Amino acid sequence: MSKEMKKILVTGSVGQIGSELTMELRHRFGAENVIATGRKTAPSEKLKNSGPFHFIDVTKIESIEEIVKKYNIDTIFHMAAILSAVGEKNPQLCWDVNMNGTLNILELGLKYDMGRIIIPSSIAVWGRGVPLDNTPQETVLKPTTMYGVTKVCGELLCDYYVQRFGLDVRGLRYPGIISYETLPGGGTTDYAVAIYYEAVDKGKYTCFVREDTVLPMMYMPDCINATIQLAEADFSKLKHHSDFNVAAMSFNVKELADSIKKYIPDFEITYEPDYRQEIADSWPNSIDDSAAREEWGWNPEWDLDSMTKDMIEHLRERKNKGNLYL
Ligand code: SER
Repeated sequence: MSKEMKKILVTGSVGQIGSELTMELRHRFGAENVIATGRKTAPSEKLKNSGPFHFIDVTKIESIEEIVKKYNIDTIFHMAAILSAVGEKNPQLCWDVNMNGTLNILELGLKYDMGRIIIPSSIAVWGRGVPLDNTPQETVLKPTTMYGVTKVCGELLCDYYVQRFGLDVRGLRYPGIISYETLPGGGTTDYAVAIYYEAVDKGKYTCFVREDTVLPMMYMPDCINATIQLAEADFSKLKHHSDFNVAAMSFNVKELADSIKKYIPDFEITYEPDYRQEIADSWPNSIDDSAAREEWGWNPEWDLDSMTKDMIEHLRERKNKGNLYL
């Protein structure tokens, strides 16, 4: 049986997923038991006022260790990472943060006999030679971005710590994540978030990938559920550990724009593809997530239209209050 989650550390808690994951973990496990950390960006008032927050640098093991000792941490959600677009601008930084950060977390997991560690992966693990439709769980992993390289290495490293040391490590390959609380920071799938903000703000959007670009996507509530559900799964029943495919929906940009037009009929979209087109083209259209469904009961709830309705309602409410971008 897996040990209980009593004192939880979240790295990358100021980021798009980390910020919402931290709030949900605080809700479920008690605010004082969830220690939020970030590197440079100031936390939102909501994050800062709801429980402990510290600045750390995941590339420096002693900086993480101080927090692990101070709070007697038994569980880590390691969300800190440099994403694909920023990673292509600064590949060395991407390697340093993603690889050394992961290694440091795993080493501390061993040293402090931690109960479990969750380290997410991404659709960026795929690249040349992969079947693009219904991409299988087990297939060739030849990414063309530094972010993808670090995610493949990260998955292998995590699985090594499971096999070699019996450490409880779990991870899932996130698709593009869409949300309205915190903007994503420097990924290729960011257009699928920006389009909603600009649609509500200005009624138009210029997209940096072509209209026929299809990528797997997921709405934040499903992403948070998937992450916590995998964290709570019975470790002894898992056949995979650090590389679960998870899917929710797939659509091209035209379909996304058409969905928005149901709520904002005058919405206009134009296309100016840049270097991120090539990255998007190297990733799958859709994903086979049957291993996640079988091994820990994964089942998404949101589709494109239900997500669009919810996104637009929340963003309109914020715009009316004058703080669309928070
Ligand atoms: N959203 C990420 C990116 O675009 C993929 O995991 O980089």
